Amino acid sequence: MQLRIPGPTPCPPDVLQSLSKQMINHRGKEFHELIQKVTGQLKNVFQTKNDVLILASVGTGCMEAAIVNFLSPGDKVLSVTNGVFGNRFADIAQQFGADVQRLSFEWGKPDDPDTVRKALKANPAIKAVLITQNESSTGVCNDVKALASVAKEYNKLVLVDAVSGLGAIDLKTDAWNCDVVVTASQKAWMIPPGIAMISISPEAWIANNSAKMPRYYFDLKRVKKSLEINETPFTPAITNFYGLDVALNMMLKEGIENIFSRHTRIGKLTRQGVKEMGLSLFADESSASNTVTAIYPPEGINPDTLRRVLREKYQVILSGGQQDLSGKIFRIGHLGWVNDDDIKVTLKALKEALSESGFNK
Ligand SMILES: Cc1ncc(COP(=O)(O)O)c(C=O)c1O
Repeated sequence: MQLRIPGPTPCPPDVLQSLSKQMINHRGKEFHELIQKVTGQLKNVFQTKNDVLILASVGTGCMEAAIVNFLSPGDKVLSVTNGVFGNRFADIAQQFGADVQRLSFEWGKPDDPDTVRKALKANPAIKAVLITQNESSTGVCNDVKALASVAKEYNKLVLVDAVSGLGAIDLKTDAWNCDVVVTASQKAWMIPPGIAMISISPEAWIANNSAKMPRYYFDLKRVKKSLEINETPFTPAITNFYGLDVALNMMLKEGIENIFSRHTRIGKLTRQGVKEMGLSLFADESSASNTVTAIYPPEGINPDTLRRVLREKYQVILSGGQQDLSGKIFRIGHLGWVNDDDIKVTLKALKEALSESGFNK
């Protein structure tokens, strides 16, 4: 089977094996050593010296943590969005009482740093800027470096949803001045859903001192305090820690630069392959994501019927479009444990399924 969706992603055999290990005492030496080790390794992939915390959560919970720990109700926030997940980040901030200004870009196009600059210039009271690194709903990868740099020209806090990009696409947390960066286990990390990871800069911790949004489970100060004794405030998702340990060893053995190059190569291979079939990409190619590709079906072919054929006949599982894009596009996920052959098999199946549906270029 080819599970080619933008998460959950397939787990390598060694990860799967680690997931069947017996439980351990989460207040004991073995867990203390495990959390210390994986936290240190995570910092390498986040490219940061900042604190990195691990939560028993999916990505959305961690996005909530990124909002409620650093902001107060009434704070002005600039939410830069070009898709479903950018909108979700804005919704969370709004739900907790932030005064959210949405700077929306056309879906399929990247966020424009100059427009962000104008918005920040026009509204000096803005406290934080919300950015989505990799907009999984459209297959667009935003330029976090440029966007964060503009936000820092105006001394704003930079909060980044890197859920579907970190660990596959370069994101230099410290060098690019990203204050808070969020990711989730079931994406590039090659382990099941269940834990999410977040990095927090010293500047963000200062903001945390006066941030008044309500929080309990996701109180990151409490998580940081527990980490000082190599524990978590509440019961950790121990099985996911086993998987993370194995996955991080694999990732660091491959080397993060090699991981980024592999995703770049595979992203290109995917885009080239679908274009050669005569299909069109949803996203501008200049900002195309190397972890997920969104594709228009040929005229007259329903993408969901095509996906059914691929699933039933070829055991290739692709994603559909979300929200406004439902029934209009389909998406191929290519992140985490993925190599060239996986993409070749997927493209071959797609070509055959298309021709069976009556499409000939
Ligand atoms: C960019 C992005 N942000 C946030 C999320 C939400 O993550 P989760 O489903 O783990 O809550 C996703 C999930 O696909 C995502 O791709």
